[in-house]
Amino acid sequence: MARSGLNQLRSFRNFFSGLFYFFRAWVRNPREIGAIAPSSPMLSQVMATQINFAQPGYVIELGGGTGSLTEALLKTGLDPKRLIVIEQNPQFVSLLRKKFPQLRILEADAQKLKLVLEQADIQEINAIISGIPLRSLPKKILIKIIRQSLELLPAHCAFIQFTYGAKSPIPEKLVNPQQFDIKISERIWLNLPPARVWTYRKK
Ligand SMILES: C[S@@+](CC[C@H](N)C(=O)[O-])C[C@H]1O[C@@H](n2cnc3c(N)ncnc32)[C@H](O)[C@@H]1O
Repeated sequence: MARSGLNQLRSFRNFFSGLFYFFRAWVRNPREIGAIAPSSPMLSQVMATQINFAQPGYVIELGGGTGSLTEALLKTGLDPKRLIVIEQNPQFVSLLRKKFPQLRILEADAQKLKLVLEQADIQEINAIISGIPLRSLPKKILIKIIRQSLELLPAHCAFIQFTYGAKSPIPEKLVNPQQFDIKISERIWLNLPPARVWTYRKK
């Protein structure tokens, strides 16, 4: 079998093995998990390929979960030293550390993003890519995460977010259209539920 077919097969196997962890966490806290299944390999790939890897700096993944998006990011050839995963659920953190021993997985709350990155001595950022279901979070939490993420981004760098709905996953009043170019992907049907990817690139 061709190498790409094998890789595809591995992604699906990882996706299904993550389902059990995901479902258990969802039963305990549906709002924080916000999805009924991990992002599919197709959705994860569309998200990962929005990043301009030629730009220096770290890629920060928010809400690593069972690692679907993490895996897609590594598949792009991104140097593992440049990827930082932030996840607050301790069960997901141990799973991620087992799956990706080469990565820095920070057990932390994305609401404290600035502080967490400062304490980990992470300064130059290339992109912030979020697996956190922003729209299902309480508004106060959403605003905290978005404000810090958008402030941290240097020019030409992107905040990337999926959403199941039709509206922007970031409330419009939090994104100044004069400061950001916004790109919306086609709907990705091979995801549960189907989703789009929104990319907010700082001008
Ligand atoms: C829908 S899951 C996505 C998981 C994975 N990125 C994926 O695409 O399959 C959302 C993840 O975000 C995490 N999360 C939610 N709120 C968070 C927060 N404030 N800080 C860090 N992680 C958070 C949850 O624990 C969960 O693992």
